[in-house]
Amino acid sequence: MAQKIIFTNDINNSLNQVLEDIDFNKLFVLTDVNTSHYVAPKLAEVFYNHNATHITIPAGDTNKNIDSLTQVWSKLGNNGATRRSLLINLGGGMVTDLGGFAASTFKRGIRFVNIPTTLLSAVDAAVGGKTGINFNGLKNEIGVFNEADAVIISTTPLYTLPKEEIKSGFAEMLKHGLLKGKDTFNKLLAFDFDNFNPDHLLDLLEESVNVKREIVAIDPHEKGLRRALNLGHTVGHAFESLAMSRKSPIPHGYAVAWGMVVELVLSHLILKFDSDVLHRYAQFICDNYGVFYITCNDYPALISLMKHDKKSNCGEMNFSLLSDVGDIKINCEASEEIVEAALDIYRDLMHI
Ligand code: GLY
Repeated sequence: MAQKIIFTNDINNSLNQVLEDIDFNKLFVLTDVNTSHYVAPKLAEVFYNHNATHITIPAGDTNKNIDSLTQVWSKLGNNGATRRSLLINLGGGMVTDLGGFAASTFKRGIRFVNIPTTLLSAVDAAVGGKTGINFNGLKNEIGVFNEADAVIISTTPLYTLPKEEIKSGFAEMLKHGLLKGKDTFNKLLAFDFDNFNPDHLLDLLEESVNVKREIVAIDPHEKGLRRALNLGHTVGHAFESLAMSRKSPIPHGYAVAWGMVVELVLSHLILKFDSDVLHRYAQFICDNYGVFYITCNDYPALISLMKHDKKSNCGEMNFSLLSDVGDIKINCEASEEIVEAALDIYRDLMHI
């Protein structure tokens, strides 16, 4: 069954509607310490009317771990959750990933609803059924594919977020725009972070989430086409790891935004992707995200990181690239020489 996704600016009303449509005996609400403080009060009346039990875990990706997970399982078990109970995950990707996994495994699976509170989770993590936790030093090492009964997406919880958080999520929207086609992509390049209307952002968000939804409907378990969603991520993850090793972490979406510049260069070199679109995208990123500094001394580390990316096989670097906006090619291999050339061009485009 297709996942129910509601786009709304009346989150209370939509949540009431969702709760009416689901048959459950007890309601649980999972938040982290931030969303418990800033977002849960906005829905307090709905939660109160349903006599909800609140579960709050520490915030941040480092807490997307087995300790937080056991905390959720224990709280569910100690407060009378049964197979007919419902868990609402109210938070960013950390909460929706961990909460989705807790719900999918408690008593072999209870139902859950995601209410993403960051743009990044609204456009990506909360939709599409990937759940899990980090384990043994590896991100998302343990998890299952299982979709939420419903996802309620609203720009209301986003108002209080710093602009950096909006930009981080917007990078995944740019990715969806590149996957969808020129009209969607051009609308995104016209976005003004300093002066935007939340209704306009909600429309763009809906168009963007639908791109992911269409891909996930065809390939829910990432056997093929879903790898298209990795555009920008092979280089993006390498940038994130390099930044971490410099003890100066960068937001995931920024890493993807910069990673996509390099991967569009690779698309141009390997698949003749239009250089005019590449230049327009690079300019938008430079103007709105600044640059991620690298020198040629960083190339060996970056290449080693790309070779160890989850998607790469036997030491070959593997990318999802574009031959045109809207035309993705998955499983493209690239030699070290061509990746180095792409990194050189990235530095030129970013004026480094
Ligand atoms: N974040 C990419 C995916 O859900 O497949």
